[in-house]
This record gives sequence, C-alpha cells and structure tokens, in this order.
Amino acid sequence: MGQDSRSGRIENERPTLYNGGLILLSKLLRIRLMARINDNYLKLKAGYLFPEISRRIKAFVAENPDASIIRLGIGDVTEPLPAACVEAMTKAVAEMGRRETFRGYMDDSQGYDWLREKIAAQDFRARDCDISADEVFVSEGSKSDTANVLDILAKGENRIAVCDPVYPVYVDTNVMAGNTGDPADGGKYAGVTYLPVTAENGFIPALPTEPVDVIYLCYPNNPTGTVLSKDELTKWVAYAKEHGSLLLFDAAYEAYITDESIPHSIYEIEGARDVAIEFRSFSKNAGFTGTRCAYTVIPRTLTGKTADGKDQLLHPLWARRHNTKFNGVSYIIQRGAEAVYTPDGQEQVRALIGFYLENARLLREGLQQIGIDVYGGVNAPYIWLKTPQGLSSWDFFDRLLKDGHLVGTPGSGFGAAGEGYFRLSAFNSREKVEQAVERFQRVAG
Ligand code: MLT
Repeated sequence: MGQDSRSGRIENERPTLYNGGLILLSKLLRIRLMARINDNYLKLKAGYLFPEISRRIKAFVAENPDASIIRLGIGDVTEPLPAACVEAMTKAVAEMGRRETFRGYMDDSQGYDWLREKIAAQDFRARDCDISADEVFVSEGSKSDTANVLDILAKGENRIAVCDPVYPVYVDTNVMAGNTGDPADGGKYAGVTYLPVTAENGFIPALPTEPVDVIYLCYPNNPTGTVLSKDELTKWVAYAKEHGSLLLFDAAYEAYITDESIPHSIYEIEGARDVAIEFRSFSKNAGFTGTRCAYTVIPRTLTGKTADGKDQLLHPLWARRHNTKFNGVSYIIQRGAEAVYTPDGQEQVRALIGFYLENARLLREGLQQIGIDVYGGVNAPYIWLKTPQGLSSWDFFDRLLKDGHLVGTPGSGFGAAGEGYFRLSAFNSREKVEQAVERFQRVAG
C-alpha cells in the first residue's frame, strides 16, 4: 500500500519489477501463491488494548497471588440484569421448550417487529426524532456494528476522521479494512484525520481542516466521559451536509446523560437523518454486556455515493449485509431487550444507571480531594483524569497496579492525545469503588 500525499488516500502499491515478474511467471505457469492473507492486519500495533491490560494483570497476579485486585479498567458492568429482563427471558425460554410456541429462524434478521416498534417509539419518537421501526436493525453488539458498517463503504477510498483519544475499535477496524496507511509516530496511522480532545480544548473536537468522508463521534464519550452540546452536534451535522460526509454516531452511553440539555440521539439535530447512522446498545443501560443485544439505525433517506458519483441509499445495502451475514439475535434475548421498555424495566434501568453514576461521583470527588484534575463522570460512566506528577499513562497504570492493586485504563491506549491521562470506569460494586477511592488516595495522593 502507498499513500497519495495530496488526498491522503491509500492506493495499491505498484509492484516492483521483481515482484511483478514473479506474479506474471506464476500466472503463466499456473503456480499457486497459496492463500493470501489480509496484509492490513500486519499493520495493527500490538494487541487490542484490553487484552494487553489483562496480560499485565495476569503477570502481576502470577507474582502476587494474594493481591486482591480492584478492576476499574474495561467498561464492563457488574450488577445483575434488571428483574423485568430476567422474567421476560425466562418466559421466552419456556416458550422455546413447547412445540406450539417454539421459534426457529426469524423471517427477517433485522429483528422482531415488537422490539423494533418499541425502540422507535420510546428511544426516538418520544424525543421528537423521526425514526421508524423499519430503520432499526437489531444486532448482537455496537462494537461489531461500528466495525461491520465498513462492509457497505468503499475500501481505501474514504478519508476517516476520529477523535483522539478514541474507542480503539474505530481505528483498528479501518486499519483492517485497508482504509489507513502504515503506523506512524505516537500511535497514529497515516491517512487518518485525528481530532484532538484534551483539557486544552475543553474536550470539544474542532471541525476538520481538510475534507473527510466518514466521521466517528461517540457521545457521551468513551473514553473521556465528556458530552457535546446541541450546538456542537449541530455543527457536525452541518459539516457533514456541506462535505457529503457520513457521521457514525455511537450513542452506547446515552442512558447516562443527566443534563437535560444534552441530546441523546444525533437525530435530535435537524437534518441528521440525511447524514448519520446511529449505534445503540443494551450493554451499558440494561447490563447486557454478556447477554448481547444492540441496534443500529439507518434512515431510509440516507445515501452515499457510488463509484460513478450517483446517490445510493445505504438502508438496502445494510439490510442486504445483515440478512446475508447474520441470522438475528435470539428470540430469548430480544424478549429480554423488549422488557427494558416496560414501566418496570424503565424503572429498573434508571436505578442501575443511578447506581453507576453514584460510583462515578464517589470516584470523581475522591480524586478531586487529592488535587487530581478529573473530567467526565457526570453524563457518562467514565472518569478521565490527568495522571499525577506528569507520569506517562502506562507508568501510572503500573504504579496503581503494583502499589494499589488497582486497575484502570491508560489514556495513551486510546490514542496519542490520551497520553498523560487515565480512565477509570464506574462499573463495579459500591464496596469495591469505596475501597478503590481509598487505595487511589493512598497511592496517588
Ligand atoms: C470500554 O471499556 O471501552 C468498553 O467496555 C469497550 C466496549 O464496550 O466494547
């Protein structure tokens, strides 16, 4: 692969005379070169962030078997599923055990109508967003959907923009798809537009100074826990309209918004239907990280460009992809997700969110007491902090683990601009969070 320095786009490298000769010879002689791999995977740096953290914890525990580790690293929920979901799933299991109510494949892997109707009505129309059930695609997770959406976009043609720091999946999947150049200095990849979000700019990404085609926005933000106002989101929709860009809006943490002025959905912004796909998940609101259910919204009117410059609706492309590569989320799980929309389910989800947000408050205030600069944690389950004494993110990780038996996530793991920052997740029991605050104050105070 090579990079066109003017457009920053990636092109296939021209074969050298030697390589070209070998390929020609093999074709002439019909010699097989064996199964070719996707070379883009070789560009990926080290492991995915969270497995790397697990590796370090494992090594530490092997040497310190008695250490009682408190994990505030990966944003994985700890509290049991809402009772309404458990009850609905239990009933669905019983239905699957009787001939009269047994279900096999769904007619359409997009999801059962009864779930998609409730999503459209309660998550969108209740907020004056013009979204209908047939624009909702139920899936097993937002992580996979943000990755899979690249299937319906041209490879190596689109200029990608991400915030820095960023949820690593957005970048890594573009590397895999061949939409980037090689790894560059500071943990970046050539050909990607990085939009820094740091304390200096109040964690508000500036609009790109160069034209970009696909823009990932995650709000409330992972990893910084910060939010964007309606005015800021309006700027992004206007930018996308002006430049023909596609916004990929990840709203996995919308249930944590406590400030009523903050939009929960990109479709609260006028015109967003024409420029944005939205990803939602049941993982962080109803605790489905192990249960697996999410959904993606692709408005019927949203278009992209074909190679010859014509407008093409994205909805039928995604529907085709979904039905070809996916057989749908299980009936039992979809019934569990549906229960989130019942009055009991809503109340229980609110209680869960309130519980984690109280954890976030304890962490935030505990850190502030020892003079640490803390961001996020008010409209999101993540606390983003400046590492003390100017320590690097990974040095601080190692120090917390060694001296406090405490695990967080190094900011630099989310991107170059995350260096010198550290993320704590509010997902844990109250007891563990209270202990974590004490340990943090002892080690970093
Ligand atoms: C995180 O810790 O960033 C999240 O748990 C990752 C995810 O939801 O996939």
